[in-house]
Amino acid sequence: RPPLNRIISLADIEAIILELRYWAWAYYCSAADDEISMQENARAFNRFFFNARVMRPVSKCDPSTKILGFETTLPIFVSGAALAKLGHPLGEVNITKGCAPSKIIQMVSSNASLSYAEIAAASSPSQTLFFQLYKHKDDATALKRIREVEQLGYKAIFLTVDAIVPSNRERDVRSPWVLDDQETGIKVYNDGEGAADSDPGLGVAGALIVNDDRDMTWEKTIPWLRSVTKLPIVIKGIQCVEDAILAAEANVDGILLSNHGGRQLEYALPPLEVLYRLRMQQQPIFNKLEVYIDGGVRRGTDVVKAVCLGATAVGLGRPFLYAQSAYGEVGVRKLISILDREIVTAMRLMGVAKIAELTPDMVERICSHYY
Ligand code: FNR
Repeated sequence: RPPLNRIISLADIEAIILELRYWAWAYYCSAADDEISMQENARAFNRFFFNARVMRPVSKCDPSTKILGFETTLPIFVSGAALAKLGHPLGEVNITKGCAPSKIIQMVSSNASLSYAEIAAASSPSQTLFFQLYKHKDDATALKRIREVEQLGYKAIFLTVDAIVPSNRERDVRSPWVLDDQETGIKVYNDGEGAADSDPGLGVAGALIVNDDRDMTWEKTIPWLRSVTKLPIVIKGIQCVEDAILAAEANVDGILLSNHGGRQLEYALPPLEVLYRLRMQQQPIFNKLEVYIDGGVRRGTDVVKAVCLGATAVGLGRPFLYAQSAYGEVGVRKLISILDREIVTAMRLMGVAKIAELTPDMVERICSHYY
């Protein structure tokens, strides 16, 4: 494993976990069917170029902003992703502690491999945690989970709506591994023939997504959630402009344009493309709620492009899992410092000193046979 000072990009970190812990990489990396949406999530960023401005003062450059009113030093957050312990024994807490100094907000997955209480206990008093909710089909059971995280001080609910059934993730199904954690009681067997305790052939996704509510609707689910919690509500997994409009009508506080990192519906549009369409077609929505994207974000310029197009912030899933798997807490700090440097460099070279100065006219979508 190379020393941390040899790590200069997010791709470097992924390369290490691929060699060091193949089984963890296989689960983290896996995506639906032929992994086209996953690849396109990242490639979509290559179609957008900057209209950079020069001769503007940028010696002071401040990339800090707020997400749902909570401070963050960068317009990024951790997108909730399951089973951090698969890559490192300290799991999600590596991410919590690694995010503390920079106040990067961590969204904790419903399927975290540590308890929500353990993760909250590892956070510093000034740190913000959000909670990603997989809604149980039984409202009372779902409510119990919401009450638990409210009491632990989690500050927002991200309701995931793009994973009501498991998808087909072949890399995951083919990779044999077992997570049998004595402390948390989490048992996931992936013995190469599918998870033993769920639909054979669906791997970990099959094991984790069994009791979720498949009948959620705008009319029923959002008013219910509003009636049981005062926390801000964000819908995670909006995949088209039409649903973004319905979310705005449902008066939620935010939407996370996401296709689950390409892990759910194969050929779902890349979130950056959905963001672009939303910005071009439905500009007033951005005044009504906060819009975020995740999927394929691997460079500071990716973050800056999304912010130009109206995203309040951008989530990263796999990169945080890879960083904590390869180097624990310090790996997470390193990941954040790489993105910090890349974001600030891009902003300065664009002639921008604050996040609010990043506007849609600063990016251009170029469709050519080159990309
Ligand atoms: C996820 N994601 C996810 N989303 C969610 O709402 N609940 C979850 O438990 C998980 N679990 C999960 C596990 C793993 C291993 C991955 C890679 C992803 C999706 C995640 O929140 C996010 O949408 C994507 O990871 C974003 O894409 P990138 O940044 O990984 O490309």
